[in-house]
Amino acid sequence: MDIVRSVAEMQKTAKEWKRSGKSVGFVPTMGFLHEGHESLMQQARSKHDLVVVSIFVNPLQFGPNEDFERYPRDEAHDRLVAERNQVDLLFIPTVEEMYPTHQSIDMQVTQRVNVLCGRTREGHFSGVVTVLTKLFHICLPDTVYFGLKDAQQVAVVDALINDLNFPVELQPVATVREDDGLAKSSRNVYLSEQERTEAPYIYKALQDAKKMVVDGEKNPVIIVREVEQFINKHTNGKIDYVELLSYPDLTTMKVINQQVILATVVQFKHARLIDNIIIPLA
Ligand code: PAJ
Repeated sequence: MDIVRSVAEMQKTAKEWKRSGKSVGFVPTMGFLHEGHESLMQQARSKHDLVVVSIFVNPLQFGPNEDFERYPRDEAHDRLVAERNQVDLLFIPTVEEMYPTHQSIDMQVTQRVNVLCGRTREGHFSGVVTVLTKLFHICLPDTVYFGLKDAQQVAVVDALINDLNFPVELQPVATVREDDGLAKSSRNVYLSEQERTEAPYIYKALQDAKKMVVDGEKNPVIIVREVEQFINKHTNGKIDYVELLSYPDLTTMKVINQQVILATVVQFKHARLIDNIIIPLA
């Protein structure tokens, strides 16, 4: 497995691959890799000649009071994980390498963004689309793999690719969970022992609510209230939001009459846990 830290070298390698007709699957990450990331790598591995994984904690997508400095990092571990998933190349640029000069171009996301995490994380998705635009241009992938754990991110990347005509295919991948249902996340390490026992109730709440919809409940307000009550009853976390929206357009609705996403964020002392469930129209 090659490790490349320079943008110029990565782009040169990607161009050579392109010229020789190889297909490239790309998995962008912020590192501290776990089974969620591995699932994306495995899907890419099964479909492409070459698999590139990037590890870059992107300062642009963190707000001033968020955990950029504290974000967990472990390159040695990440190398082992990538190696055992037969990744061909790890791209690990520094912040200076990715953002050597002041940016003159500011990308703004205007749709699919003033809801869910986008509402409270101002500028977050601008930071995400900026780094992804750069990474797509640097790594020249045929297909990019994104986890549905961050379903709003998938919806925004879908818009990015379509609106700006990236010659890239988006492949969403199902959320990987612990045995008790907790969505795997690099941030789970921040949970206290007590919080770790409470955290699985988040997914349980979403599953119970999905069953209500499948059984015929069409009122989003009732569904959202059920989820809130369940999480409040079983955890000491503070609910940031519970929202039910159309997916992938992320618009509000009065009656559930199309595919929806039921999504929540629960803030524990040191960990902000995000989870969602997509409910297809039966
Ligand atoms: P990061 O949080 O490291 O996630 C990288 C990818 O792994 C994302 O597509 C995310 O949805 C996916 N992922 C994380 N946990 C998962 C799980 N439990 N199951 C399935 N997939 C999971 O998301 C980012 O990084 C950044 O915003 C990035 C796209 C790299 C841009 O900086």
